[in-house]
Amino acid sequence: MADYDYDVLVIGAGPGGYVAAIRAAQLGLRTACAESRETLGGTCLNVGCIPSKALLHASEIYEEAKGGHLTKFGIDFQGVTLNLDQMHAEKAKAVKELTGGVEFLFKKNKVTWLKGKAAFQDAHTVDVNGQKVTAKNIVIATGSSVMPLPGVEVDQKTVVDSTGALALPKVPEHMVVIGGGVIGLELGSVWRRLGAKVTVVEFVDQILPGFDGEVRRETAKLFKKQGMELKLSTKVTGVTVENGLATVTVEPAAGGAAETLTADAVLVSIGRKANVDGLNLDAIGLELNKRGQIETDHSFKTKVDGVWAIGDAIPGLMLAHKAEDEGVAVAENIAGQTGIVNEDVIPSVVYTMPEIAGVGLTEEAAKEKGEIKVGKFPFAANSRAKTNRDTDGFVKVIADAKTDRVLGVWIVSSLAGTLIAEAAIAMEFGATSEDIAYTCHAHPTHAEALKEAAMAVQGKPIHI
Ligand code: FAD
Ligand code: NAI
Repeated sequence: MADYDYDVLVIGAGPGGYVAAIRAAQLGLRTACAESRETLGGTCLNVGCIPSKALLHASEIYEEAKGGHLTKFGIDFQGVTLNLDQMHAEKAKAVKELTGGVEFLFKKNKVTWLKGKAAFQDAHTVDVNGQKVTAKNIVIATGSSVMPLPGVEVDQKTVVDSTGALALPKVPEHMVVIGGGVIGLELGSVWRRLGAKVTVVEFVDQILPGFDGEVRRETAKLFKKQGMELKLSTKVTGVTVENGLATVTVEPAAGGAAETLTADAVLVSIGRKANVDGLNLDAIGLELNKRGQIETDHSFKTKVDGVWAIGDAIPGLMLAHKAEDEGVAVAENIAGQTGIVNEDVIPSVVYTMPEIAGVGLTEEAAKEKGEIKVGKFPFAANSRAKTNRDTDGFVKVIADAKTDRVLGVWIVSSLAGTLIAEAAIAMEFGATSEDIAYTCHAHPTHAEALKEAAMAVQGKPIHI
């Protein structure tokens, strides 16, 4: 052990890497974390979860005030204007506070931050900015970056990826979003609320890959009602830019007549890919899978002794909380404990309005596995949602027909992101729908809709 500079060296300080480093240090291991960005926190804190949620929150308040939605509550505004620079400044402040917070936590836990890009020399040695660093265990937590669309050049002015879309200096007149996934819908919502016309071009026949079919259909209707144009089953065949104006050529995915869309902003959001370039994985003989990701076993060990991997760089959902949980687990495994992540119970949340959340199996996937029972409850029948004039959405509980064990929960609601945690806990504890149905829920709350959906699985909801 003493032969190495560190017991644990983590490459990448995103939610996976920084959490792994802190937990390793908490467990008494001498720990360093290499990060090539100027600030800690990875994609999530710098150009992902945090700045996008800052703009989603601010644009939501703006739309409420500007759109006269508060008038019905007796609150009248006059002359609401947008100060986009200030909105960006407030976002930057949140990012700075949180990335600074990780730096503070590193100091507090005595994690050494090695500033620079790390590349393997062998399974226990990396080069960081020309400095040789050795460690008994090395954790790859290098995350992911934007998947490029062949033939479409991102200039971060007219054609942007998510990072560019978080920093547009003015509200576009027309934004074309390529890809109707999480990023496209969240950032498309931001700019629509701030005044842009938004057209989402999606290759397949539904938005939101991986989500429950009914949720995908219902939320598509809600986005359209909000004024977003959705061009489904449509592919982009080319984008040209002249004088800041893009011409986007699209045609039906199955082939057919092409048409062009003119836009002053184009957002490319067709997925993300693992960051492995520059790691020099050849030096340790670590091969990638077909999708360019690093494979691990359940303890996050790779095929190379002493090398572990977590987060967006490995298969599974590309989510910050998944990366964080894997960060804790990998550190515990390195320390000889048993770190486990239940990959079947990881919630996903889209932070639009309403929010869209799910955990566990979709109805389609559950049906493939066996017989199921489904209970649904609309927020239009939930007293708190009705009081708040906030009735869009529903809760759907999917349970095994024989055992009643909850297999999946899907929620569309202004508070879906918060409510889904209750479903995740229930599922982690192996709850049946009856367990949820007979758990007392405070009144009046949106959470009662989850209880009622569980009662609906039993065929006995009270309020519908
Ligand atoms: P990352 O956060 O990508 O961090 C990896 C770090 O490693 C980076 O800082 C990188 O600079 C560094 N690195 C890479 N290679 C090297 C090297 N060789 N040497 C040194 N350092 C290196 N997820 C959610 O759960 N909720 C959300 O609301 C959400 N919103 C998002 C919004 C956007 C716009 C985007 C793009 C993503 C969002 N995500 C969200 C996804 C989330 O950001 C990722 O799942 C998460 O950041 C993955 O964490 P990670 O630690 O694996 O990698
Ligand atoms: P995504 O995988 O969610 O969606 C990409 C969409 O683009 C898919 O619907 C796909 O069918 C479509 N597509 C692919 N190629 C296309 C083409 N050529 N033309 C038109 N459409 C095409 O990817 P996205 O939105 O880029 O997000 C990446 C990841 O970031 C997600 O997997 C998600 O996990 C994470 N993320 C999570 C957030 C959250 O948790 N709230 C927020 C933002 C990102």
